[in-house]
Amino acid sequence: MDNLENMEQAQESAVKRIGVLTSGGDAPGMNAAIRSVVRSAYRRGIECVGIRRGWAGLINGDIFPMGGSDVSRIINRGGTVLYTARSDEFRTEAGQAKAAATCKLLGLDGIVAIGGDGTFRGARELAKHGVSVVGIPGTIDNDIGCTDYTIGFDTAANTAVECIDRLRDTMQSHERCAVAEVMGRHAGYLALQVGLAVGATAVLVPEYPFDFDEHVAEKIRRARLSGKTNYIIVVAEGAVSAVAVGERIKSELGLDPRVTILGHIQRGGAPTMKDRVMATRMGFEAVQMLAMGKTNRVICAVGERIVDRDITEALEMKKTLNPEEFVVMKAMTGV
Ligand code: F6P
Repeated sequence: MDNLENMEQAQESAVKRIGVLTSGGDAPGMNAAIRSVVRSAYRRGIECVGIRRGWAGLINGDIFPMGGSDVSRIINRGGTVLYTARSDEFRTEAGQAKAAATCKLLGLDGIVAIGGDGTFRGARELAKHGVSVVGIPGTIDNDIGCTDYTIGFDTAANTAVECIDRLRDTMQSHERCAVAEVMGRHAGYLALQVGLAVGATAVLVPEYPFDFDEHVAEKIRRARLSGKTNYIIVVAEGAVSAVAVGERIKSELGLDPRVTILGHIQRGGAPTMKDRVMATRMGFEAVQMLAMGKTNRVICAVGERIVDRDITEALEMKKTLNPEEFVVMKAMTGV
C-alpha cells in the first residue's frame, strides 16, 4: 500500500476535471466502477462530473458534479445511476464534434467510458477530436477480445444459474424438459459457463453451427438411456431460437418441453463480490491512466492482473470460447 500511495503522490498531474459515463447495455457492477472512478479522482484532487445517458449526455451537456458522498451506498446496487443509452447521433462526425465541444466548454480533461466494444469505438472517435479517453469493459456478455473479464458477467451468470436451478426442481418433479435461453447475441460465454454450472443436458452457442440431431436430440436420448427423466437445454440467444428448439423437441422426440427466456432478469440485481472488486480495481486504474496523461486506453483483465491497452489494438483483438471448457461441456452433456 505504501508503494501505491507514493506512486499516487508522485504523479502530479495537469488533469483537473474528468467525466464518467456508462453506455450500451447496463451490467451489474457499473455502479461500483462509477464509485471507484469518482473516489479515485477525489483522492487525487481531480474533480469528477457524472454524464447521464452515455454519449448522448455528453453531446447534450447532461452532466452534474459528483463528489465522494454522491457515490455512497451504490457499490451494491445493480443498474447504473448514470443511466445508459445507445446514441445514433454519436456515431456521426457531427455528434462526436458536439461531444468534444462539450468537453472543451466544461473543461473536461478526460472521460472514463464504461461499456462494451460499441462504447470503445465511440471513445476512439472522440479521442480523434483531442479528448483523452479511457474505457472500462462492462457487459454481461464477456465478449470483449482484449480482456479476460468484463464487469457484470459473474453476476449475470450466477443469476442465470439460480434461475435454472429453480427450473430444474420443477422439471425433476414433472419429469420434463426445460429449454432455458440465456443472453448472448454473438457470444456463448454465458451459455457455456452456465451450462456447465447447472449440469445441462445440452448447450447451444452461436460460435458453433446448430445441428438439432447431434446437439439436442442425441444428447437427450443418451441422457434418457442413462436413466434421466428430466433435461435442461441451455441456449444462447444468438445460437438459435429457444422456442424453435422447444417445438422440435416436441415434434421430433414427443416430449412436452417448457421454454423459459431469462432475458433482462440477467442484467439486474446486486453485483457479486467479483464484479464489485473488478469494477473497483478497473475504476482506480482508469483514473490513474488519465492522471498520467494517457489517452486512448482500455483497462483490461489479464488473468489476475489489471493492465491497459491501446483502444485500436484492443478493438482488433478477437475472443474465442475457451476450447478446454468446450471439450468439458461436450463430455458432461448427454450423460
Ligand atoms: O450486450 C449485452 C446484452 O445484454 C446482450 O446479451 C443482449 O443481446 C443485449 O444486450 C440486449 O440489449 P437490449 O437491452 O437493448 O435489449
